[in-house]
Amino acid sequence: MGVTYSSYLRVEELLALQQEPRAHDELLFVVLHQSHELWFKLALHELDEATSLIATDRFPEAETRLRRIVTVMRQLIAQWDVLGTMSPAGYLEFRHVLEGGSGFQSAQFRELEFASGRKDASYLSSPWLSDAELARLQRRLDAPSLADAFHEALARAGVSDVLDVLRAGPSLLTMLAETLLDYDEAVGHWRHRHVLAVERQIGLKPGTGGSSGAAYLRSTLTHRFFPELWEARTRL
Ligand code: HEM
Repeated sequence: MGVTYSSYLRVEELLALQQEPRAHDELLFVVLHQSHELWFKLALHELDEATSLIATDRFPEAETRLRRIVTVMRQLIAQWDVLGTMSPAGYLEFRHVLEGGSGFQSAQFRELEFASGRKDASYLSSPWLSDAELARLQRRLDAPSLADAFHEALARAGVSDVLDVLRAGPSLLTMLAETLLDYDEAVGHWRHRHVLAVERQIGLKPGTGGSSGAAYLRSTLTHRFFPELWEARTRL
């Protein structure tokens, strides 16, 4: 037999990745995280392409990639509703098996931040990173980010203050700037939904990753990939 649905998609390998749940809700927890990692993978793939397209002034093509990432982020935001069907008591039945494991250790999430323009080199000294994760993060730390590509495109267009982009009428550059803002906003929404989901599950308890928990996550809510696009609104 040639290619089948299962052989092409490697369904058996995929389904073997979820072990027998030790408590009823553990399967939901694992599927939610694993599906996030898959969508993060796609978002990174699109982000790389969008960054190279912006670097060669191919803005409409870059936007098709960025719009896909925004849509991906929006459906990840919607996934928090599924987590809301887990009770805090249901979570506590298996929370101990995580030991010190936490979403804070997601290398792909950090890759997304690095690739978008928020780079924190100190994250590379994290002891939980595998050699492959470290190599990917180092590559992204060194490579131009989406924000770098945008800033260089502005410079090529002779724009020294992004305020001029906001003041200008519709153009390929102004439309790109709005799509970048959509992306920044979508990630912001994801961060908000995450902290609400966390408070709903564990209240103000510290995280398994060792942070203060919701208090730490609240401190990340103001993170922006394109702060100048937000700040220019005040000056407009
Ligand atoms: C019951 C569900 C969840 C709880 C209670 C929870 C809790 C937390 C807490 C407390 C932190 C702060 C670090 C720590 O001390 O552990 C954190 C960070 C993080 N979590 Fe979750 N989380 C949940 C679900 C998820 C899911 C489904 C994802 C999807 C991948 C995720 C991704 C992340 C990421 C990326 C960070 C780092 C955020 C940053 O540093 O900006 N979490 N989580």
